[in-house]
This record gives sequence, C-alpha cells and structure tokens, in this order.
Amino acid sequence: MSVTLLALAGSARQDSLNKRLVRAAADSAERAGAHVTFVDLNDYPLPIYHGDLEAEQGVPEASRPLRKLLREHDGLLIASPEYNGFVTPLLVNTLDWLSRKDGDESGLALFGGKYGVLMSASPGPMGGIRSLASARQFLGNLGVTLLPGQLAVPQAHQAFDERGALKDEGLQARLDSLTQTLVKTLSALKP
Ligand SMILES: Cc1cc2nc3c(=O)[nH]c(=O)nc-3n(C[C@H](O)[C@H](O)[C@H](O)COP(=O)(O)O)c2cc1C
Repeated sequence: MSVTLLALAGSARQDSLNKRLVRAAADSAERAGAHVTFVDLNDYPLPIYHGDLEAEQGVPEASRPLRKLLREHDGLLIASPEYNGFVTPLLVNTLDWLSRKDGDESGLALFGGKYGVLMSASPGPMGGIRSLASARQFLGNLGVTLLPGQLAVPQAHQAFDERGALKDEGLQARLDSLTQTLVKTLSALKP
C-alpha cells in the first residue's frame, strides 16, 4: 500500500505562491511513489476559533471533511506564507479547530504519528524562512514529527515554470530529496 500524503498551503489566495509550492511538492512526492491529496483551504472556510462558539455548536461542520482527510493520510506536506515572521493565522486557525475534540474523537490523536515536511514561499529574498521555526514549533506541539530538512523559496513569483516545477534545479533537487525522504520514512514505518 502506498504512502498517503495530505498537501496544504497556509494561504487561501487564488494565486497563492505557497499553493504552487505545495503542488510542486505533491508532484514530487507522487514521483517518489506517494499518493497525494491536495487540499485548498479556500474550500473549508472556518470561523476564527472562539471558545463560546465551540461550547454552543461544537466544531464547525466545514472542519469535518478536513478531519476525515487528516485521519486517512499518513503524512503532511505544508507550505505556508510568512506573515511578519510567523506562520499564517489561516493555518493556525485551521489546525487549532482540527486539534479540538469532536464527539468522542480527540483532535490531537489525528495528528499523532504523522510525519511532515515544512516549506515556505515568498516574493521576498528570504523565502519566508523565519516562519519555518514557528511552523515547526506549532506542528511539533500538535504531535507531528517534522523532517529536519525544510525548504524556503525566495522570489517565488518568478520561481516556477509553466509545468509548476521549480526553475532552479538546485531548489527542485532539494524538494525532491525532501519528499523522497518523507516517502521512504513513512514506507519503512507502514505495517
Ligand atoms: C500581513 C502580511 C505580512 C507579511 N510578512 C511577510 C514577511 O514577514 N516575510 C515575507 O517574506 N513576506 C511577508 N509578506 C508577503 C507574503 O510573503 C506574500 O504576500 C506572499 O505572496 C503570501 O503568500 P501566498 O502567495 O501563498 O498567498 C507578508 C504579507 C502579509 C499580508
């Protein structure tokens, strides 16, 4: 049975550079033998987490299909923009809702045992690299084991070719190496 990965970006923007990056990672992981599901967070609009809302209504209905996807996949490919040095509120809010209990199901149990790769893309010269530390801390707190390798793509508005691959061969090779390591790790762990 092949390794299954959920690919998502911390931006809902239609022309998101991070969606492009995570799609490139998804293509790369598929070449390495994984089955990848791309999730566009634009399709799962969730309110900002509020404890009273949760107490009155439970988790939002729109979060349930995401919970199911998380339950069904072995690992995560995540690319998030950097907002003022941090991972985006969209990513935090989405994963915060997923971390909550829904009926008898623990949210944190959905993340436990998952392995993941973190990436960022920015039109700026640093590629959003500062956000990767916050992303790593956040996902780690949720129970995800992150590979030590990561990728920040600078000048990302000029970084992709018409097929969606990274134009810079060195960056594409690093992306391929990351996805291959993730697929190999998860394959070794799969029963
Ligand atoms: C509130 C805000 C803060 C930002 N802070 C940073 C930053 O710290 N570093 C950076 O490289 N880009 C920053 N940007 C620019 C984003 O990298 C840029 O908008 C990027 O295209 C967003 O990702 P997306 O294309 O996936 O939507 C910021 C953008 C916004 C809206």
